[in-house]
Amino acid sequence: MDTSKQPDIEYHPNLQKYLQRQSLRLAENPDLPKTPLPPGFPERVDGPIVWEGNDWVNEDQWVYRLSEMELKEISDALLHFRSTGLALGFIARDNFPLPTLSLKLREFAQELYSGRGFFVLRTIPIDDYSREELAIIYAGISTHVGSARGKQDGTGAVLAHIKDLTVSHAHEKGGIGNSAYTTDKQVFHTDVGDLIALMALEIAQEGGTSRISSGARVYNELAATRPDLIHTLSEPWPLDSFGGDPGYTTRPLLYYEDGHVIIQYSRRHFTGYGKQKRTPHIPPITEAQAEALDAVHFLAEKYSLGLNFQKGDIQYINSLGLLHARDAFQDSEQHTRHLIRLWLRNDELAWSTPKPLQSIWQRLYSARPEEQRFPLEPEIRRKPGGMTK
Ligand SMILES: [Fe+2]
Repeated sequence: MDTSKQPDIEYHPNLQKYLQRQSLRLAENPDLPKTPLPPGFPERVDGPIVWEGNDWVNEDQWVYRLSEMELKEISDALLHFRSTGLALGFIARDNFPLPTLSLKLREFAQELYSGRGFFVLRTIPIDDYSREELAIIYAGISTHVGSARGKQDGTGAVLAHIKDLTVSHAHEKGGIGNSAYTTDKQVFHTDVGDLIALMALEIAQEGGTSRISSGARVYNELAATRPDLIHTLSEPWPLDSFGGDPGYTTRPLLYYEDGHVIIQYSRRHFTGYGKQKRTPHIPPITEAQAEALDAVHFLAEKYSLGLNFQKGDIQYINSLGLLHARDAFQDSEQHTRHLIRLWLRNDELAWSTPKPLQSIWQRLYSARPEEQRFPLEPEIRRKPGGMTK
């Protein structure tokens, strides 16, 4: 087999190609499923973060409906923060006080790190506030969940807009290399960082369902049936930096740290997306890695839970423990899907960060309050040099 070239694999997983590759590899080496697990990796993990979509009966199990009193606390906290005259980067628990809701939010933060790994707050009355007020409210509530805000680009933006930008930003140099900015389906992946928050300013005319899946559930199945792929996932992979310097970095996609299964990857770093093709002349991925990418995707899909995202909802997920995806969608003039995202971390409750991720985490959570930007209009994430990411 030619190992010097990239396997036949694309951003959008193809079930038939996956099954073909799987049977070819098993035919070449029928002993793959007998491979012992890598040292330190358990045969299975248990706990509330190990779940399947079918385990959930209805959304009341994870949706918390904000009461009138709590909504009043939120608008009072907005006024309080405004009265300080501080820039948005300074939003913190003490200047966005939520006398009773903060206790609930602390419980929910525990749910993210020690429970099922997700919850939804319903719902912020979007039309009652300006865009800037919504950014303050969103960051203010979120600071009670995880006070550290992650940088989402090289220019200190801690707020990112998830919206179809293919029409408005068609001129972008190099094209749009991330499905987050299109109406296209987004396959299972994780964002970098501990926690992801998404607030829906508006939802699509049709489609766009958010899907989440337990990384530990995926792990258990692979550990039981294809331990060789646990090896593959826990060894270093070449991540394309798409024109960055260096041209690629290497790290594992799967970690077992302090009793937690952690998966961290985005498929496009191995396959490219859209006009952003995988960079030639960097090491290709292997056939085993191609199979592992598909295996994780299809298992995550099989055990996933669809979240019915409403305008004004805020969704919080643990991005170390859960994978997520999004269905394709259709916008209309009245209903143009528009989410705003924060990356967060709760330093008190956080899992320990695996060593190969520590430098990324340091960079991510290092923005001082005065450096944090809250763009109120959509923009494509930039690296410091201006390259889209
Ligand atoms: Fe994502």
